[in-house]
Amino acid sequence: KLLCFVEKYLEPFRLSLEKLKEVSVRLKKDLIRGLGKHSHHRAAVKMLPTFVRATPDGTEKGDYLALDLGGTNFRVLYVRVVEEQQKVVKMDSKICSIPQEMMLGTGEQLFDHIAQCLGEFLESQDLKGQTLPLGFTFSFPCEQKEIDKSILIRWTKGFSCSGVEGQDVVKLLKEAIHRRGDYDIGSVAMVNDTVGTMMSCGYRDQSCEIGMIIGTGTNACYMEEIKNVKRVEGEDGRMCINTEWGGFGDDGSLKDILTEFDEVVDQTSINPGVHTFEKMISGMYLGEIVRLLLVKMAEDKLLFKGETSEALLTPGQFETKYISEIEDGLENAQKILTALGLNWDPVDACVVRLVCDTISSRSARLCAAALATISNRIRVNRGLDHLKTTVGVDGTVYRKHPNFSEELQAAVRLLAPKCDITFLVSEDGSGKGAAMVTAVAQRIWLPGCMLSFIFLPIFVYI
Ligand code: BGC
Repeated sequence: KLLCFVEKYLEPFRLSLEKLKEVSVRLKKDLIRGLGKHSHHRAAVKMLPTFVRATPDGTEKGDYLALDLGGTNFRVLYVRVVEEQQKVVKMDSKICSIPQEMMLGTGEQLFDHIAQCLGEFLESQDLKGQTLPLGFTFSFPCEQKEIDKSILIRWTKGFSCSGVEGQDVVKLLKEAIHRRGDYDIGSVAMVNDTVGTMMSCGYRDQSCEIGMIIGTGTNACYMEEIKNVKRVEGEDGRMCINTEWGGFGDDGSLKDILTEFDEVVDQTSINPGVHTFEKMISGMYLGEIVRLLLVKMAEDKLLFKGETSEALLTPGQFETKYISEIEDGLENAQKILTALGLNWDPVDACVVRLVCDTISSRSARLCAAALATISNRIRVNRGLDHLKTTVGVDGTVYRKHPNFSEELQAAVRLLAPKCDITFLVSEDGSGKGAAMVTAVAQRIWLPGCMLSFIFLPIFVYI
């Protein structure tokens, strides 16, 4: 009987295969809208050209710096590309935390902090006298004008620094470095984390032509036929498109599957009305959805003898990592409920586990619908009856959750039966992948020559 009551709360989160197919059809239309010359301005799914065309080469070499901003931490890396051995070697790296106040402060403060962290790293590596080329993995939606000119469309995830939206991020970084005046950098290549992930998987599997992130945020990129990218000149070949699928639904197209809990998560976020799809899927929000459900069920006397706790009533206190831990075993569930100050019994622990499972399943199945849409698009683009392709994947939700990847893969098989998809977990796409894009850009970045082609080198990591 209890389960029947519980199911009433969970039912709106259970998406049937039919519903997922509908979602996929909607996304398919949105991809086309985002690619259109005149329709892209209003498109919820931005479909941003990246100026990356992937073709293996392998002649790149040299030392590079890489910056990685957009996930849980900010990282600086020093990377060596070794031509003879076709290897990308991470020489050293440093992690700098970005305090919450800074994520919500001014852009100047943020970029000064980045420049300081980079300065300290260069000092420690004795690299201050050199001007190394730099790959900047900046994992936010950017309208890329060239490889080194990238305008932030809007902040997502936990960031909301003033004075950055609408600005060229490369310029802001260089200005911060020049304000210090104690070191300089060489040419810059801007990279979205999905692109770095795809590129970094390309060496192991050359049919890797999709990059997907399911971490703090979610997004994917893929290789599109240039002739379909109406904003970019050219008829032949392919270009990597950063879909920014997190924005799917921002025009109301997902209204029928949004629950009252999703609405609350959106309204209490720092960017209401924005990144609807991401808020149903990614690590920044899943814990909060579960927390809101548990509070409601406790208030309705279905859990914890009708009692809550201060921790459970505090936004953000139920972390997304708890979902993975709870689903991993009932013992974990009990420990976490105790730590949250809840008065639980064994049935409560089982119900909480069921809630976590429902929310993470919905996330995996929605991702599957979106990935199936992209794979099917690639297949149809190429006039194939059957497509064999590889997806480079990264992100804490995908990596850490006990059965997220299996659930996602099972649903993709049903939604894209004509696509045979291999999943490859990336090895530091945001770090080494960015250096790789920069290395390629360097090779063909002759003075006076507009960079519009980037070739994917075949490298082997060690
Ligand atoms: C950003 C994307 C990014 C994704 C994964 C989203 O919030 O808009 O650019 O790729 O998070 O990090």
